[in-house]
Amino acid sequence: MKRLLHINASPRGARSRSGTISGQVLAGLSAANPALVVETIDLFDADLPPFDVQAIEGRYGLLMGTPVPPEQAAAWDQLRSLAEHFRSFDGWLMSVPMWNFGLPYRLKHYIDLITHPGMTFRNDAAGNVEGLAAGRTAIIVAASAMPFGTMPEIDGLDFQLSYLSAWLGFIGVTDIHAVRVAGTFGPDDAVAAAMAKAAAEADALVAQLSARAAAV
Ligand SMILES: Cc1cc2nc3c(=O)[nH]c(=O)nc-3n(C[C@H](O)[C@H](O)[C@H](O)COP(=O)(O)O)c2cc1C
Repeated sequence: MKRLLHINASPRGARSRSGTISGQVLAGLSAANPALVVETIDLFDADLPPFDVQAIEGRYGLLMGTPVPPEQAAAWDQLRSLAEHFRSFDGWLMSVPMWNFGLPYRLKHYIDLITHPGMTFRNDAAGNVEGLAAGRTAIIVAASAMPFGTMPEIDGLDFQLSYLSAWLGFIGVTDIHAVRVAGTFGPDDAVAAAMAKAAAEADALVAQLSARAAAV
């Protein structure tokens, strides 16, 4: 991997649980591959354009195979350049807190901006869909107060990791790795144990990805 985009969906800066574990992943990957170029997009600071009626009408045109009308072209140029930026990376590291069982709205906004025909997927008249982001690696660091991964009875409430995995699959990504930082609310010792478990999983993932890269 030469270029990695860190997509940070937590606004909590240095206090972010997902960001703490992502920082460890980044440090490990960079130590194993000093030439790795890392860029970060902080979604709560980024200037994301609105996804409004102009953009939506242009999308229906693209889905029907018709060109985007001139009055919608400027909005689509912005979306196209965001999607090209996203696709220009060999991999993505996503720092993602769970918000109300799903994603923070800024990450959903970003996904809505870049997920369009001809940008991150292609479709034909018969309804076949092909993802255009295949061949890359995605790493999701998913933080939640609830202890997902250790309580099967709450698995049905996960629209965070399950959504991101489905979306990445839709745009063609098959090499998807996840580290859960789960159980971040509660007694100090329980939270410390959850962080230690996530840190150990992050180390194991870095070792796995680094060994794979070295073998190529
Ligand atoms: C608006 C909001 C909604 C949240 N909703 C959930 C939730 O549905 N389930 C859950 O387990 N944690 C929920 N949390 C807790 C966060 O997922 C948890 O604190 C996580 O560790 C935050 O990650 P971060 O520190 O990287 O931002 C919510 C937090 C906020 C601020």
